[in-house]
Amino acid sequence: MSLRETFENNKDRRYIMFGGKGGLGKTTFSAATAFWLAQNGHKVLVFSVDPQASLSDIFQRDIFGKGPVEIVHNLYAQEIDADSHIRQYQDQIRKKILDMYGLEQIPEEIEHYIQAASAEPAMEESAIFDAVVDIVVGGEYDYYIYDLVPLGHALYYLSMAKVYDEWINRITRLRQEMREHEEMVARIKRQKTTEEDHILTELQYIKDRINKSSSILTDRQKTAFFFVVVPEEMIILDTEKAAQLFAKFDVPIAGYVVNRVLPDALSSQNIPPYLQNRMKMQGHYLEEVDRIFGKNVIARVPELERDVTGLAMIEKLADIMYGDGRMRASHA
Ligand SMILES: Nc1ncnc2c1ncn2[C@@H]1O[C@H](COP(=O)(O)OP(=O)(O)OP(=O)(O)O)[C@@H](O)[C@H]1O
Ligand SMILES: [Mg+2]
Repeated sequence: MSLRETFENNKDRRYIMFGGKGGLGKTTFSAATAFWLAQNGHKVLVFSVDPQASLSDIFQRDIFGKGPVEIVHNLYAQEIDADSHIRQYQDQIRKKILDMYGLEQIPEEIEHYIQAASAEPAMEESAIFDAVVDIVVGGEYDYYIYDLVPLGHALYYLSMAKVYDEWINRITRLRQEMREHEEMVARIKRQKTTEEDHILTELQYIKDRINKSSSILTDRQKTAFFFVVVPEEMIILDTEKAAQLFAKFDVPIAGYVVNRVLPDALSSQNIPPYLQNRMKMQGHYLEEVDRIFGKNVIARVPELERDVTGLAMIEKLADIMYGDGRMRASHA
């Protein structure tokens, strides 16, 4: 099956992720795929939480922290600025404290505490996680393309959904038990029903959001996760290990895309021994990729003559990946 067919045959899959080790082409493929889908009349959002602002680089537009920005008709790109989300968090906390205690100003000690808490890596992670949940549950676009950070980190986010969920389950249960208890006491005291439990409602709300987003991300019908690999020994080994981990988190692996394949046409030309050797070595690892990942290898993408930045190069790559110019994997 080709990359194009995996889209055409699975029209319900509207959440697309490209994952893989650092620097292999996740952002490049995310942009090219988004471009192709937009050209085909779908409204697409490609987004990332990468502080490196690599979508800004590839689209040659400063979009960092600016919300969804329209790049071309139907194609929107968004880069989440974790720091600004943390600032929003802080403001919310301040506002809650002011309201709750009827204060005019945040006491210095508390302000100090808020600042310290924000420096915690966990705060940044949860701010990012929250922003991703917001995007995913939004539902305004036909396609959501999540340009992932390198593997380890991506797994972390996915596992976070599971951990969050369990944690919230436990608290919700505890709250519920407490409320039943309170209600009983209230009945004994012949009081009216206890006041509505705001905390429980809040927890339920968070739980619903997380459930919804993690169920989207692991739903075989709605989600496709593509692994980006290159024909090199270490990358193949690491990808194999990562794929096993991803399977544990029920991530629906839709296929492997091999990037940076030296064009076959080169071999018929008069090329120096250096390049001949590299091509021979690549040939070996391409066979390895096919042997290990089998029919799940759905495309080979050639190494282009220059970096993929700017719309012209993105379009060129999209044509190769999805148009007639695409290369077929040997198992396709
Ligand atoms: N097929 C290709 N031909 C030529 N250049 C490519 C190709 N694929 C990727 N590149 C270039 O390789 C570099 C890394 O690609 P990219 O940024 O997409 O990787 P990434 O997996 O998103 O990296 P990171 O893990 O840092 O997010 C970029 O400069 C990109 O233009
Ligand atoms: Mg990237």
